[in-house]
Amino acid sequence: MKRIVILISGRGSNMEAIIERCAADRWPAQVVAVLANRADAAGLRHAADRGIATAVVDHRAHASREDFDAALAEAIEAHAPDVVALAGFMRILGPAFVRRYEGRLLNIHPSLLPAFPGLHTHRRALAAGCKVAGATVHLVTSELDHGPIVMQSVVPVHPGDDEQALAARVLATEHVIYPLALRWFVEDRLRIDDGVVSHTGGASQVLV
Ligand code: GRF
Repeated sequence: MKRIVILISGRGSNMEAIIERCAADRWPAQVVAVLANRADAAGLRHAADRGIATAVVDHRAHASREDFDAALAEAIEAHAPDVVALAGFMRILGPAFVRRYEGRLLNIHPSLLPAFPGLHTHRRALAAGCKVAGATVHLVTSELDHGPIVMQSVVPVHPGDDEQALAARVLATEHVIYPLALRWFVEDRLRIDDGVVSHTGGASQVLV
């Protein structure tokens, strides 16, 4: 059984989707821990209710990014993960951390990367007049919201959409593609050649 650790900062709806699909579809894996950088991350409660170990590594308790990253890595190592999934984890991780988990650190970002890395993706997509939007699951590199793309979802942008409406449409697809991508990972179906991911899991995109 592969061991999955999920890092969150807030609501944790992607985390919930992963926990649910992992159990329901009997992945050769289990979510062994959910860690957060904030004690008030709502997703912690859901994970604890499911009997999953939880812990908080508060970034404010650490003087530097390096200290925080080291404390986080220590907390993660206590669960000996095969893969670490960032699911709405709102801290930038430093190069030493990223190197340590290289090839087994996944993230979901609510845009069609490489467009709109960083914050306020939906606002920026609307301001740019994009006609489609979406989400991306990728392997993490030390460049923010960058790295080999595992899977993407695409949704239409409708006239009159505001940030909330677009975010909700994209989020519904995040709950589909993140579990799928993680499943392929734990089933050893992903291959990376020159930064390009291929797999034997099925289509790499969900078009809504
Ligand atoms: C998601 O849109 C994710 O892509 C982004 O932050 C949001 C987190 O939502 N990085 P949740 O905590 O998974 O509900």
